[in-house]
Amino acid sequence: MKFAIVSGSHRPQSQSGKVARFVAGQIAALDPKFSSYLLELGKEPLPLWEEGIWNKDPKMIEPWRPVSEALAGCDAAVIIAPEWSGMAPAALKNFFLFASDGCLYHKPGLLVGVSASRNGAYPIAELRTSSYKNSHIQYISEHVIVRNVNEVLNEATPVSEEDGALRRRFDYGLRVLAEYGKALQAVRASGVLNRKEFPFGM
Ligand SMILES: Cc1cc2nc3c(=O)[nH]c(=O)nc-3n(C[C@H](O)[C@H](O)[C@H](O)COP(=O)(O)O)c2cc1C
Repeated sequence: MKFAIVSGSHRPQSQSGKVARFVAGQIAALDPKFSSYLLELGKEPLPLWEEGIWNKDPKMIEPWRPVSEALAGCDAAVIIAPEWSGMAPAALKNFFLFASDGCLYHKPGLLVGVSASRNGAYPIAELRTSSYKNSHIQYISEHVIVRNVNEVLNEATPVSEEDGALRRRFDYGLRVLAEYGKALQAVRASGVLNRKEFPFGM
């Protein structure tokens, strides 16, 4: 099974990127057959979406196509959203405009909120409301909020109770995600889904 990990920070050196690399390591440790594709939007920024993509404008297609193909090869996604001004960052919302092309269609998603302080819930609430309609990503009910991100996930082993509890929460969330990854393969193969007639949710 292959997992996509998308880090939504605009910053090339971000804490969300750190969290994404931790998640990649945890996925590899869960099962030797698991692999991941890591997209850090702060390091590989997408252009701001324009409608030229509908006419195959190379300015849009060239940066997006390899990302879309890599996502299409994944069975599940971990979406990491730092909380910026109480919101999901614009780069991540822009990503979801591109991702309405079917690359995440009926694939399970684990949301991860990131905060340098005690927040991190707002981007999760926002993405549960506004990023699934046309991408058709299926967010599972579990999610993870990384609070005080500068103090956790820095060492190979936990340095505090909070760090340990967070790692157990990630372990659990990823195990659940993997099961949904298997289960939704059956949904996609069922013949019930009709993206041609219903490409956009209501
Ligand atoms: C523009 C901006 C706005 C931010 N707003 C919030 C916020 O509303 N709530 C919060 O908990 N942290 C906020 N932060 C701090 C982030 O939680 C912190 O930068 C953390 O490291 C996650 O972002 P990163 O992945 O870009 O590093 C903000 C950071 C930036 C750059």
